[in-house]
Order: sequence, then structure tokens, then C-alpha cells
Amino acid sequence: MCGIVGYIGFREAWPIVIKGLKRLEYRGYDSAGVAIINNNGFNVYKKAGKVSTLEDFASDKDRSGSIAIGHTRWATHGAPSDVNSHPHSSNDNRLHIIHNGIIENYSTLKEELISRGHEFKSATDTEVLIHLVEEIQKIEQIDLMEAVRLALNSVIGAYAIVIIDRENPGQLIAARKGSPLVIGVGSGEYFIASDATPIVEYTKNVIYLKDNEIALIKPNELLIRRLDNVIQTPLIQELELKLEAIEKGGFDHFMLKEIYEQPRSVKDCMRGRINLKDGKIELGGIKEYADKLKNIERIIIVACGTSWHAGLTGEYLIEEYARIPVEVEYASEFRYRNPIINEKDVIIAISQSGETADTMAAIEIAKEKGATIFGICNVVGASIPRITHAGVYTHAGPEIGVASTKAFTAQVTVLTLMALYIAQQKGTLPVSKLTSLLTELNSIPDKIQTVLATDYLIKNIAAKVKDAKNCLFLGRGSGFPVALEGALKLKEISYIHAEGYPAAEMKHGPIALIDEKMPVVFIATKNSSYEKVISNIQEVKARKGIVIAIVTQGDTEVKKMADYCIEIPDADEVFLPLLATIPLQLLAYHIAVMRGCNVDQPRNLAKSVTVE
Ligand code: F6R
Repeated sequence: MCGIVGYIGFREAWPIVIKGLKRLEYRGYDSAGVAIINNNGFNVYKKAGKVSTLEDFASDKDRSGSIAIGHTRWATHGAPSDVNSHPHSSNDNRLHIIHNGIIENYSTLKEELISRGHEFKSATDTEVLIHLVEEIQKIEQIDLMEAVRLALNSVIGAYAIVIIDRENPGQLIAARKGSPLVIGVGSGEYFIASDATPIVEYTKNVIYLKDNEIALIKPNELLIRRLDNVIQTPLIQELELKLEAIEKGGFDHFMLKEIYEQPRSVKDCMRGRINLKDGKIELGGIKEYADKLKNIERIIIVACGTSWHAGLTGEYLIEEYARIPVEVEYASEFRYRNPIINEKDVIIAISQSGETADTMAAIEIAKEKGATIFGICNVVGASIPRITHAGVYTHAGPEIGVASTKAFTAQVTVLTLMALYIAQQKGTLPVSKLTSLLTELNSIPDKIQTVLATDYLIKNIAAKVKDAKNCLFLGRGSGFPVALEGALKLKEISYIHAEGYPAAEMKHGPIALIDEKMPVVFIATKNSSYEKVISNIQEVKARKGIVIAIVTQGDTEVKKMADYCIEIPDADEVFLPLLATIPLQLLAYHIAVMRGCNVDQPRNLAKSVTVE
């Protein structure tokens, strides 16, 4: 959480930093700030609110300069306010810092610094860090990089930081531990950012700073050391990211663009992995573990939020086809238990961002206990793929809308491939069945396209229910994770209270909520629980609830009962989540737009949850 951008070189830094911060707003948008140096001096502008508020505020001020740092914040320590916005400055106002992460021992450090005469302006943990650097530099009489290195050695927590010194303006110092930081390498210039999106239009050459590394960056010089002072040789990698992938491309919102991208993203996710001719799956990322997969006794899936919902579909798929017991755990709960894990266990960690703090901590715990860890991740080069033993990328492309859409369907696609791959290794599925499943999986992108064509109907339904205060989502079997995901989408972007339940659980409590104002969304496609779901629909209708049903094309029975139906193409039950989730994403989207909500940046949320 929080996005950071830095620039040092020959161009005007302000537009680069502001544009970069806008690209990183998915990481937080409580406040924004920039510190910029020019020949006449030094300016810091900070404002609560979005980057555009900061832009307006500074529009009549001096924004010139070719060295700058900027920050967009997701508040942890200290409310969103001008004063708590980054950059934060040292006691003597000489050093300025932007920070993503949390300094866990900040309160002890703060007390010590106060006792030695430091005065703090903000309630943030970040300000403590820059005071500490200042103090060390003054006492030890050392250069800034060395002072930062010593300070970071006494800090507990996670950080990606960039520091600027107004008295020594030809350099930036950057460092990371636990929060991402990318350095873009230009000719006579460097770019620094939380991810590559602010950098991609200026250079394709990047260095992913590693944990415990600290960088001294000058326009024509880059020096990287580890915190233990060992000099590192930077590895320059070429970015695959394309600029079009991070722009709205004519859509009103990133979320809508990303929903519409799903036929393509699911296809990209399968590309090169399905061999229809031989009825085989190839997953290069976990190939070396193919033998191990034959003997595993248990799989534990760890994830958070939407990725956890994808995990539930994985449980269904792996148990069905590979016949291995699966447990699906919230990473945040798993990490604080004393989970029983051994070397025969495989952990699958799912994360779109690859930076989620709880998922990372769960991985570390399972690793210590000897388990094999596979990652399913979207962001290439993120932290999770670095700490897992092996993994499979989802290749959905950048997901910028805070609410996850195409990442979910890509995760489900990878889980489907993994389940079938394990089945292939174990021999639990006849080749004929495997081939028919793969053929059907291959047709899913076209079927998603068919679902997208019903958007206009979904918009009409949205208009009817947009003023609801509560909403229930019900499904059975593979429809249950879809119900959970539909409810999460609606609540996070429209602020309507929504709950997802297994349909049969309704009568154990939630049924008490149903009245004539309550929309109840059913996943009622023709599958093994169709008849049972029909009974549940009748129970809701008997209590005058408003039924919205996702049904199989050509269905007549549910249509007789439901107030509104959305048809999806027929498909094997296991592929249901890939199709039935799409109308729920669209329903949430349209309702949120009609309610005037900011769908791409819902309140209080951030896309990359790097705090526990
Ligand atoms: C919901 C959403 C979140 C994320 C969760 C995990 O739309 O996006 O619930 O799924 O924060 O994030 P990742 O997948 O990046 O680990």
C-alpha cells in the first residue's frame, strides 16, 4: 500500500512524478505529496485527497526542477491529512522521505528521539525514520547512504523508501525490505517507483531492487549495496509491460475495461499450456515438481479476499480431479495459528499483486516447516514469486481497478490447469476425459464473450435494485465461491451490504433478512444442485424477496420464478465460476456507477495490501 515515485535526470520531474502517482493510485489515495528541487531551491507540496487535489493545489506554484520524489498514501499510522502526507522531513528540514510500508518499532524509536530533542509534526511512523537518519548522519559525520544503511539496520518492519537531501540535490537514496521498488534505467536519468507502470513510457530497462538493498542514485551513477554493506551488481531486466495495458482504452473505468478483457486474459492464461492434440497440460513453472505431485497427501491453499475465493474453486477442482484433500485458508488466520504442516504438503499461495503481507507471511511459515510452496501470481517479478519454490503466472496483464475481476478468472483458470495437471501426473483421469475437459476449457473465452453481450440486460437489472440496502448471493458447489465473489464485488464498490452464502445455509439464519426489498442473487445454472437451488428460490419468493438468477441459456423453470434472469452458456459444472462470475462483476459495476461511487478507487481500499 502507498505508491512512491522518484525521478533524477534532465527532464522536468513534476509531470513525470504526478503521472506516475496517478498510475499508482490503486495502491492508496488518501493523500499525496511531492518534494522537488530546482536551481532556486526546494519545494514540498502535500495535500489530503487524491493526486488530482495535489495537482490543483500546486497549479499556481513553482513546480520546476529535475529531481523529485512523490507519494500517494493509504493511511496506516495517522489519519489522512495534509500534515500526515508524505514526504516527511527531518528535524532540520534538510532530508525528506517517501515511504511505503510500516516501521513496527517506530514508537520506541520516537520516544528515544523525543528524549534527545526531536520534534515531530505528524503522527506517522515514517517521520521517525527520517529523524533517525538525520541523527545518525550528524553524530557519525557520514554520508547519507551510510546513514540510511545504519538507520535501516535498527528498524523493524517493511519499507520501500526514497530520500532526497536539499543540501546535496544531485542524488536520491532508495531502499527496500518487504515492499516493492523498481528502478528504471535511462540515459542520464533514473526513475524509481513502486511498480513499473510510472516508468514504462520512458524506459524498458529496469532493476527490481531486492530486499535489504539500498541504492545511491545520481543522473549518471547507480550504486547498490546490501544492508550488510556488500556491494551488489545490478541486474537490468527488460520490461514486458505495454503502455496500452495500463490505460483505459476508451472505457469509462479500468474495472469495466478489465471485465471486458476477460476473453483475452483467460486465453492468455492458457496459451502454450494446453496441448489439445495429445490431451496434455504443460505447466513449465512447476514441471520440476511433477514427480513430487504424484505422492502429495494434502494441498493447502492460502490467500486473501478475491484470491481466497479463487482458492475455494481450486479446492473443488483439485479434489474432483486429482483426488487430493485440499484445505483453503485465509492467509491472515493461517499465519497466526501453529499450523500442522510437513514436507509432504504442498502449499498453493494465490495473489494477484504478489505483495500481500499476510500471504507472504503464511508462505514463510509453511516454508520453515518444510512444505513445497507454489505461487499463483499475476504481477511478474513481485515478491511472492520470489519466495515460492515454483509457480504459475496468471498472465492477466496489469489489473488497475481496485476490485479484482480479470485476475480472479485468470486465477481460476490456472487452478483448473493445475488440478488437471496433478490429475495427469497421478493418473486419476482417463486421457479421454482430460481431453474433453481441455477442449471445453479452450472454449471458455468465447463463452465469456457471449456473457459480456448480456451487459445491457444486466445494466437494466442494476437500475432496478441499485437502491437496495442489503443483498444476498447464494450458490451451491462451485457456485458457492461465485456467490462469495459476487457479494464482495458489490459491497466493495457500491457500499451496499452484501453477503455470500451456500444456498442451503440460507434457512439457518439469513432467511430472516428477506423481505420485499431484499435482492437475492442465485447461481441457478443447470448442474448437480439445480433442483435444490430451485427449492431455495421458492423459499425466497415465498417471503417476497427479489430474485435475480444466473441461469443456463434456454432455462425455462427458474425463469417462471425469478424476477430477473441472466443467461450464461451451458458448460461443465467445474467451469461455472469462469462464466457465472462475469455477470456479477457487471452487476456490481453498474450499480456502483449508478450510485455515483468511484468504482476504480473505492473508499478505504487499496489494491496491494502490504500491511497485515
Ligand atoms: C477484492 C480484492 C481483494 C484482493 C485481496 C488479495 O476485489 O481485490 O480482496 O483479492 O486483497 O490481494 P492479492 O490477490 O493481491 O493478494
